[in-house]
Amino acid sequence: MKEPKSKKSSFSKLSKKEKIKWVQKKFLNQEESLFTELEGFQHPDLDVQKKLDNFSENTLCNFPIPFGVAPHFLINNKKYCVPMVIEESSVVAAASNAAKYWSTRGGISAKVIDTVKLGHIHLYWTGEGAKLYQFFISKKYDLLKGCKEITAQMEARGGGILSMQLLDKTEEDEGYFQIEIKFETCDSMGANFINSVLEKVASLWKYEVHTSSYFFGEEKTVDIILCILSNYNPECLASASVSCKVKELGTFPNGINAEKFADKFYKAVRIAKLDTHRAATHNKGIFNGIDAIVLATGNDFRAIEACGHTYAAANGKYQGLSDCSIENGIFTFRLEMPVPIGTVGGLTKLHPLASKSLELLGNPNARELMQVIVSTGLMQNFGALRSLVTTGIQKGHMKMHLSNILNQLHATEKEFAAAVEHFGTRLVSFSKVREYLDYLRNYGT
Ligand code: MEV
Repeated sequence: MKEPKSKKSSFSKLSKKEKIKWVQKKFLNQEESLFTELEGFQHPDLDVQKKLDNFSENTLCNFPIPFGVAPHFLINNKKYCVPMVIEESSVVAAASNAAKYWSTRGGISAKVIDTVKLGHIHLYWTGEGAKLYQFFISKKYDLLKGCKEITAQMEARGGGILSMQLLDKTEEDEGYFQIEIKFETCDSMGANFINSVLEKVASLWKYEVHTSSYFFGEEKTVDIILCILSNYNPECLASASVSCKVKELGTFPNGINAEKFADKFYKAVRIAKLDTHRAATHNKGIFNGIDAIVLATGNDFRAIEACGHTYAAANGKYQGLSDCSIENGIFTFRLEMPVPIGTVGGLTKLHPLASKSLELLGNPNARELMQVIVSTGLMQNFGALRSLVTTGIQKGHMKMHLSNILNQLHATEKEFAAAVEHFGTRLVSFSKVREYLDYLRNYGT
């Protein structure tokens, strides 16, 4: 029986104002207008707001997150001011301080190792794998030719399909095969390009098998399960490293000299290779920096996270992504990881602040941005480990935490200064700070 059509329009069809009213009525228990409350989070320029609304669906307003910069980066002898979008306190300061520290020790050396991206057609087929393989080899040229209208423009820019192969996965599951395609997508992240090519190849392949006199019966049916790029791109790789004589590392709080620092730092990196629990936190610290610049430049931080975490487990065990060595009195700290990003397409030019971030970085191409991103991850990791092996992380964190709590409790300038002094050597917690402010407000200093 045919379902009667609903008279009500679906939520997605409501205007923004109607959506906000609907949400308030159904899910919030408040008198004052939610629309008025969210109004301050709409962009004053209607064109910009329309752009932002269109990035996603069912948008009510914007959700602001700080957009900051970490200056002082010296990468391959070029100065950078790294844009970072992140809500966590201390991250930008840590990256910036670490970059400043290394800028006086020769800066960061970064390079791109390769830029290959991957996509797969996952399919099931019943028959002799060798027979399918032979047929695939004979049809490969036609399959490539059949995608020309999609690949021509990318080829003109120096990219396109690098290779295509049929992989027999029947040992993993009966009838399971893959067509794996490797791509060069130049300065674009390339998701749409890759997925379009995959879907085209899949339909051509299905047709070729079906219409060939080489196959009989069940063999004629290719069951295409799905076609999608892989977010694991281990060959889209960049590295960044810093290095100096151990004695040039300087001295650190708590009476820690350069040799002791180098030893503790080396062991901290080693622990992240040995212990999975520590590896997750170690890498989270790296992604504090990486996500922040990836987001600021309009790239997909979930894709970069997925890729990086998978790479961290490439040895069959999830490990810290960075490496440290001390050899012949030389301290070296290095990060190598895949960063499949783009500097054209997607949000990179559409989002007004993403294009500003790229401008701030001197409008880099994808290869240069890959190097800046890995360098940011390296500095973030250095900053975190430097704190962890010297003062501990809480000292710096608590200062920021205190300031966030004071802002939340609407502390005046005078109260702020008094609280900073009071909590200089005391444990900071929301309730303790509130207690202290109540005391100040009731009894003065
Ligand atoms: C906090 O966001 C990140 C750290 O935990 C990273 C680390 O432990 O290396 C400080």
